[in-house]
Amino acid sequence: KRTPIVILNFKTYLESTGKNALKLAIASELVAEETGVNMVVAPQSPDIYSISNEVKIPVFAQHVDAVNSGGHTGSTLVECVEEAGAVGSLINHSEQRMKLADIDVVVKKTMEKNMVSVLCTNNIETSAAAATLKPDFVAIEPPELIGSGIPVSKAEPEIVEGTVDIIHEINPKIGVLCGAGISTGDDMKAALDLGAEGVLLASGIILAEDPKEALLNLVSKI
Ligand code: G3P
Repeated sequence: KRTPIVILNFKTYLESTGKNALKLAIASELVAEETGVNMVVAPQSPDIYSISNEVKIPVFAQHVDAVNSGGHTGSTLVECVEEAGAVGSLINHSEQRMKLADIDVVVKKTMEKNMVSVLCTNNIETSAAAATLKPDFVAIEPPELIGSGIPVSKAEPEIVEGTVDIIHEINPKIGVLCGAGISTGDDMKAALDLGAEGVLLASGIILAEDPKEALLNLVSKI
């Protein structure tokens, strides 16, 4: 079994933007060093360069566009986040949904570059579809629980379990992560007990009074 993974999605909270993003990444690195957990941070794209220069833990992009080099004003190239220091990307987060064909392009582009692809899904059916695109990970996040403080691993365990089952049936090499409302050690333990390899989370840590303490609590029961 692989060491549990925690992906901290910085989203667009001011508490995880710019200088605050750097601070949060450094705190995440300390937690990784102290606990041995696989911590990953996913800041906004303009923060990737400064963070990846400062910390050794993996830095992921939150999104990349399905475009090749050329005239695509306002888009973000996989090559650009890679050069900035990202070693993976979230894809199709429910706050940044993509077309199926574009998801396929981005999964393939990250694969070519040996970057880690974390394809986000909203239910068991889309998770099954996602598995056929062969990302490294599928992250199941019921949208209604995102930012709610109600943990998916406790409120909807059948979605996590169902996703783990179907994905392992389709392609056992794909890891399953879950997210939405996760914040405590109990939430994380419940996720791992359901067969997830780790969690994807944001508000429970980013908005905590002491994010480092919150992260230590998150990984305290694994
Ligand atoms: O990507 C993680 C996310 O969507 C879950 O957000 O705030 O419920 O932890 P949150």
